[in-house]
Amino acid sequence: MVRLAVPATAANLGPGYDCLGLALALYNYLELEPARRWQLVIRGEGAESLPRDESNLVWQSMEHLWRQTGTPVPCVKLTLVNGIPLGRGLGSSAAAIVGGLSLANHWLDKPLDKEELLQLAAELEGHPDNVAPALLGGLCLSVTEAGRTIALNWDLPPHLRLAVCIPDFSLSTQAARAVLPRTVAHADAVFNLSRTALLLAALAQKRLDLLGTAARDRLHQEYRKDLIPGFDAVVTAAVEAGALACTLSGAGPSLLAFVVSAADGEKAGRAMAAAFGRWGVQARWVVLRPDTRGVRAIK
Ligand code: HSE
Repeated sequence: MVRLAVPATAANLGPGYDCLGLALALYNYLELEPARRWQLVIRGEGAESLPRDESNLVWQSMEHLWRQTGTPVPCVKLTLVNGIPLGRGLGSSAAAIVGGLSLANHWLDKPLDKEELLQLAAELEGHPDNVAPALLGGLCLSVTEAGRTIALNWDLPPHLRLAVCIPDFSLSTQAARAVLPRTVAHADAVFNLSRTALLLAALAQKRLDLLGTAARDRLHQEYRKDLIPGFDAVVTAAVEAGALACTLSGAGPSLLAFVVSAADGEKAGRAMAAAFGRWGVQARWVVLRPDTRGVRAIK
């Protein structure tokens, strides 16, 4: 029997479109055991909507790894207990891919290392910014060069927490990418690259006072916010409640606020959900620590 936990992830973090991602301490759990007949059991998030057949993304990812390693597909029971909401910008598909690849790899006694798993995961997902932190943990910077993904990860300042506000509607990444322009102004590119660099430098030097400036973005949020009723009001509410910065989580619709304590996170979370409420959107919130380890075997 193999059991794994794989974390949720928040990509982009404001300016770092398609290259920054942070692993969050919110998990999907996967379990694989030998069985007489093939079975797929799903509990938790997505239990009603996710396919329970071989088209399931976790299973597809497992089969992909077995094919890549020339291994016959075993007869197994796969159990998924999902804590990551679907279609909310929290990396549920990256968690499925990284979880599936890692589970199949553990089943074979780990013939592939994390570097090889990263390449497979980035190919399956199509962009690396969620799969890298789901695999490695922490804050990840990912770059694709000549078809290969390079990812570096490191930890955030230890007292940082993330207040994540999750509205009760989903937004497909495809739809959220479709609203982006094909070209952007040079000034907007400079705006984002300077703030991405500032964000990383400010986190490295613990200059949390700079996060508000560093987390601003002109490449995606301005276009996507029309898909998210109340976006500006939620950002303002988070900052007025004491958050250091507030950005879309991945392609949205969840928003994520950087805070310095669980108590500040609760204030920000409550304020964000109330702001969504004023726009007629039900939302829940949760205060999370960063995850520092990425996907891992558990007892
Ligand atoms: N970087 C991606 C995007 C993340 O913003 O479209 C989506 O999961």
